[in-house]
Amino acid sequence: MATWALFPLIALLSSTLAAPAAANSEGDALYALRRAVVDPGNVLQSWDPTLVDPCTWFHVTCDHDNRVTRLDLGNAKLSGKLVPELGKLEHLQYLELYMNDFVGHIPEELGGLKSLVSLDLFHNNLTGPIPSSLSKLSNLKFLRLNNNKLTGRIPRELTKLGNLKILNASNNNLCGTIPVAGSFSKFTEQSFVNNPRLEGPELIGFVRYDSGRDCN
Ligand SMILES: *[C@@H]1O[C@H](CO)[C@@H](O)[C@H](O)[C@H]1NC(C)=O
Ligand SMILES: *[C@@H]1O[C@H](CO)[C@@H](O)[C@H](O)[C@H]1NC(C)=O
Repeated sequence: MATWALFPLIALLSSTLAAPAAANSEGDALYALRRAVVDPGNVLQSWDPTLVDPCTWFHVTCDHDNRVTRLDLGNAKLSGKLVPELGKLEHLQYLELYMNDFVGHIPEELGGLKSLVSLDLFHNNLTGPIPSSLSKLSNLKFLRLNNNKLTGRIPRELTKLGNLKILNASNNNLCGTIPVAGSFSKFTEQSFVNNPRLEGPELIGFVRYDSGRDCN
């Protein structure tokens, strides 16, 4: 074969190798969500996995480096489970999935979203515990989990979230006592209302009192 005949092949190979792998893996992560959910309103119709990155997909926002920074799917009539792949979106700042019909657990992999500022999962049908891995989200300012069916204790580790400004865990089925340390000391009862098995922060002397009632 003449040498010139190899040029198109070499050009094709080098352009494939130069493609930003990170952008593709973020598209793959989002596409895993599309495959997992039921989408009667076709809000995810533009999510085409053959595109080089997900930055032109509706409800997805990227930064100048084509990394995903926002996912805006509030009130989108979606149902199904949240996928662990979402935890790969390392530059994601806003995960807005409120007012849908998501079921199942909050994936502990969401603790990998190290740029996250806002996690809005309120008004769904999520079950299971609040993952303690969320305590790794050191930039988190808004954590709204209200109006789901979450159970278990509020992980004490979450009090480490020093930037947390808004917390709403109301209208769930959480149990145990409300942690009072760290950033949680500024939250009032309004953040925890209507969890029938959750007990207020009770202090006896300066030792936290925990009734030790069954909590699952
Ligand atoms: C949650 O599920 C119940 C049925 O178990 C349903 O009646 C309700 O509408 C659902 N809530 C949301 C927010 O989808
Ligand atoms: C949390 O949400 C509930 C129900 O939507 C609301 O009543 C409550 O005021 C909210 N709390 C805060 C602190 O925003």
